[in-house]
Amino acid sequence: MKIHVLETPASASIFVARILAAQVQKKNGSVLGLATGGTMPPVYEELLSIARKQRISLTDISTFNLDEYIGLSPEHPQSYSRFMRHHLFDRIDCDRSRLAVPRGDSRDPDAEAQRYEAAIKQSGGIDLQLLGLGANGHIGFNEPGASFSSRTRVETLSEDTRLANARFFAHGEIVPSEAITMGIGTILEARSIVLLAAGESKAPAVRAMIEGPITPDCPASVLQKHPNVAVVLDAAAAALLSPSESITHHGVTPAQPEPTNAS
Ligand code: GLP
Repeated sequence: MKIHVLETPASASIFVARILAAQVQKKNGSVLGLATGGTMPPVYEELLSIARKQRISLTDISTFNLDEYIGLSPEHPQSYSRFMRHHLFDRIDCDRSRLAVPRGDSRDPDAEAQRYEAAIKQSGGIDLQLLGLGANGHIGFNEPGASFSSRTRVETLSEDTRLANARFFAHGEIVPSEAITMGIGTILEARSIVLLAAGESKAPAVRAMIEGPITPDCPASVLQKHPNVAVVLDAAAAALLSPSESITHHGVTPAQPEPTNAS
């Protein structure tokens, strides 16, 4: 794992957006795995800005989002489908059929999960997977206890996660109790991974992910086994880490990241 610590959430987002842009530039038709959550909008905003300024075309990318709430249609304001359209998909000139989010309103969520897994395989696999981090160490919606070999499937959300995500829902609205999520095994097949976490609420999970044992109790700890992971943090999220050679501290203006090894 290479760990990059930026001073602010904004500079951490810029750093991640540059990694995404470098991937798109490096390989025509890159397949990106994308993430939602409150940490991600600045990343997409910055990616669009870099693409505009550097004339990087996003037309040929394919994308697969990590997860979607079961029971929400793509039109629901809190669906991840709507989130992605608002922050990215509606703003790029790209064939919609290549911008995939699991269908949360499918009548048969298990079949939808299998279809999604097969579609990822058929695309040739993910070149670069973007991840956030749950305060309980989840990646995608793979909650503590999830199997490291799990594939895209239906997952029951923990009370912690439903509580953490309640802030995005209207007062009194019920947060869905299940989601379709890429499995941990699915995520690990990505050729490269960049995880972004910001804020002090993530600091304990960041420490467990990087310094703790590799255990399903902290799903993100499995990333220690992947050969090509960049973890990008703001100073608050990195606050509990012990000094290590694998940590690079960046100044206010982040350096240009090295491109990932994904083809
Ligand atoms: C949700 C998503 C995760 C995301 C996490 C962190 O639960 N399913 O993929 O990483 O939230 O979200 P936030 O960025 O809002 O802290």
